[in-house]
Amino acid sequence: MTTGLLFVCLGNICRSPLAEGVFLHQAAERGVLDCFDVDSCGIGGWHAGSPPDTRAAAVAKRHKVRLPSIARQVDPATDFDRFDLLLAMDTSNQDALLELGAPAERVCLMRSYDPTLTSADDNDLDVPDPYYGGPKGFDLVYEMLERACAGLLDELTET
Ligand code: 4NP
Repeated sequence: MTTGLLFVCLGNICRSPLAEGVFLHQAAERGVLDCFDVDSCGIGGWHAGSPPDTRAAAVAKRHKVRLPSIARQVDPATDFDRFDLLLAMDTSNQDALLELGAPAERVCLMRSYDPTLTSADDNDLDVPDPYYGGPKGFDLVYEMLERACAGLLDELTET
């Protein structure tokens, strides 16, 4: 039995491919890769068929993390059944998933798994969209995703 995880952002070329790559990397390091069925997608389909943004690829490469994603749009007809958790990068992605009919109990915000955040941070759990910013934004996104993926793995592999 595997746990299905779908990382979701707006375009599927920046945040969710990084989340997917970091999660796969950490799962492999922990020897639990076989336990998961992992993919990423975008709410929009503008970049379908494209590899990750070059700035996302660059930050991943610096950390020796591989990004296997080729962008695709979310498919409500199959994704909402196949994946146990739909991990939205921000609240607008979360709202869009719910509007598309995703079961609320499967939809969560990626940063809600960051164990270093406190309840004081609850009002802002967004992974900020780095698309229109500079490379520094991608470093920040990467660090947020490293912490959130570690927390997610802790939770999902807890015995
Ligand atoms: P992502 O970033 O949702 O993290 O992949 C974006 C990529 C593309 C666009 C917006 C956000 N876009 O408007 O094309």
